[in-house]
Amino acid sequence: MKQRVLLTGGAGYIGSHTYAALVEAGYDVLIVDNFCNASREVPTRLSAVTGNDVQVIQADVLDRAALDRVFADNAIDAVVHFAAYKSVGESVRNPLAYMQNNVGGLVTLMQAMESAGVRRLVFSSSATVYGEAAELPTPETAALGYGNPYGHSKLICEQIIEQTAAADPRWAVGVLRYFNPVGAHPSGLIGEDPAGVPDNLMPYVAKVAAGELPVLSVFGGDYPTPDGTGVRDYIHVSDLAQGHVLSLQALERDGTGHVVNLGTGRGYSVLEVIAAYARASNQHIPYKIAPRRPGDAASSYADPSLAKTLLGFEAKYDLHDMCRTSWMWMQNATQAMD
Ligand code: NAD
Ligand code: WQD
Repeated sequence: MKQRVLLTGGAGYIGSHTYAALVEAGYDVLIVDNFCNASREVPTRLSAVTGNDVQVIQADVLDRAALDRVFADNAIDAVVHFAAYKSVGESVRNPLAYMQNNVGGLVTLMQAMESAGVRRLVFSSSATVYGEAAELPTPETAALGYGNPYGHSKLICEQIIEQTAAADPRWAVGVLRYFNPVGAHPSGLIGEDPAGVPDNLMPYVAKVAAGELPVLSVFGGDYPTPDGTGVRDYIHVSDLAQGHVLSLQALERDGTGHVVNLGTGRGYSVLEVIAAYARASNQHIPYKIAPRRPGDAASSYADPSLAKTLLGFEAKYDLHDMCRTSWMWMQNATQAMD
């Protein structure tokens, strides 16, 4: 019997790649998404990628009655919860919306799961829960903190999960702390599609390479890093997607939860990313050094060893693959809009 997995936020960037990885691993997958930050084309594109008839229910994870119906109508074995808001800047401007959607969404989902008797969950957390990480590379035991309401909402979610699992050991929750997800599916059919001007580095670089934006501002050239620009642990979204498959398998196997970093363990500077993207796209990428962005750390990269020990997880794609697949997606997405 195939395991049936519910993906909340499954039409989004990481959710759609995880859909593809789960189908490939033999899972039967159902998506719940309200499409507040996803294209309506994603299910059709996922059908093309997987050859599957993609099942999508349009619903909000804050809608308890809708979730109850999903559990009543489908024999769900486990849930992967992606649905959330993710813009740091927006969270500073509107903290209540972030708490409601991210914290309220998790609580509503876990209540619906509990009443349906489903207690296997994988949760999208973030390296942002380390705040300004003091330890590099950062292990899961590092001190936790937050620098903005988005990060705070993820930390609260982790605490809610920990307390719920302590109260009832039948819960088995995989908390996955993503570092910096980038890149796109090798098919070129799904990828990240931010509305407006991107906040994050790689989607911004992609638009400069494509000539849609004139120049990249490099936020800070005087950090205590080898070339003075910020260093991050970029991880290909397909590797990240595979991490969810392994997390679900570990929950099934062990019957108990885990909290792990998903990163490569290797940091790259902004200038290294620009150079790699220029090579992969064969485009010139104009940039200028600009002031630091408030709240940014100099460096962030994972100690990925626990994910290897507990889940057998290891990233396979390198920076060139991340840039190459991002560029393929960028060209396909642009053509689709022409
Ligand atoms: P995304 O915005 O592309 O995907 C989120 C999906 O959830 C979207 O399809 C959106 O329509 C949906 N959604 C949001 N609120 C909903 C609600 N109330 N009900 C139903 N659907 C809802 O974001 P992503 O980059 O794929 O991120 C997925 C998860 O991973 C999020 O929880 C995010 O916080 C976390 N995360 C992302 C990153 C990153 O850099 N992308 C890093 C660390 C953690
Ligand atoms: C990477 C590097 C910037 C844009 C954010 C969130 C984090 C997580 C992932 C969800 C930094 C520099 C960027 C630009 C630049 N999200 N940069 N010019 O800040 O590590 O993480 O996204 O959980 O919570 O904070 O990622 O891609 O924004 O920045 O120079 O136009 O690129 O200063 O050094 P970040 P990013």
